[in-house]
Amino acid sequence: MRRFLIAGNWKMNCGPNETAALLEELKKETPVISENVDVLVCPPFVSLSMSVNHLHDTDIAVGAQNFHFEDNGAYTGEISATMLEESGCNYVIIGHSERREYFGETDEGVNAKTKKALLHKLVPVVCVGESLAQRKDGVHFDLVKNQVTAALEGISSDDVLDVVIAYEPIWAIGTGETASPEQAQEMHAHIRNTIESLYDSETADVIRILYGGSMKPGNAEELLQQNDVDGGLIGGASLDAKSFSQIISAAEKIS
Ligand code: 13P
Repeated sequence: MRRFLIAGNWKMNCGPNETAALLEELKKETPVISENVDVLVCPPFVSLSMSVNHLHDTDIAVGAQNFHFEDNGAYTGEISATMLEESGCNYVIIGHSERREYFGETDEGVNAKTKKALLHKLVPVVCVGESLAQRKDGVHFDLVKNQVTAALEGISSDDVLDVVIAYEPIWAIGTGETASPEQAQEMHAHIRNTIESLYDSETADVIRILYGGSMKPGNAEELLQQNDVDGGLIGGASLDAKSFSQIISAAEKIS
């Protein structure tokens, strides 16, 4: 049986006040969460501690959207894994395409962060995915394989079991355009094969691969029904309590 992960990436939205309001609504809207579905929200740094407090009596986990791979030091403006751990986070998103594109995040940095997150018992949600131009050029399979391989470099077969991969085709992020269920399945199977070639088939079976890119209540079910889609990383629709809850319900229905 699959255990889905439905994760909301709030991006640069919701300071503490808006976060409190959204979480209250989410608590009202969220269906009963079974053991087959994990639910996660990733608000901005300034809203993390209060999110942990607000959600302590629920089955909704809290994660961050980024961190610095050093533990502390002269890195003005940065936040470390130790700090996230202390704030009560259990997950962290790593290498989102927006961070790769706007903040120069590299495959090497993603690898360093993935290792550090594991060390601090934070579940790394490692994002990979191609641009439209790369898909048109037909290099998307090689690119994603290289991103996954680089992210997992030097990670043991025991540790990798805790890693979550999120396939987010850049052309589908915030555009309203979604990968078709077939396109998603094809790439997810490719990612699983890549993990199998790096480790083994048992490991590949266990690792969760999320789809991200305009997942909404209207398309969640058909995407989540694909064999190799183990959940969703949701941007826009996670900022609406009803929509996010409907996506959780879709996962509950299928699981
Ligand atoms: P949208 O759901 O808004 O397309 O964003 C997807 C995403 O980037 C999640 O990390």
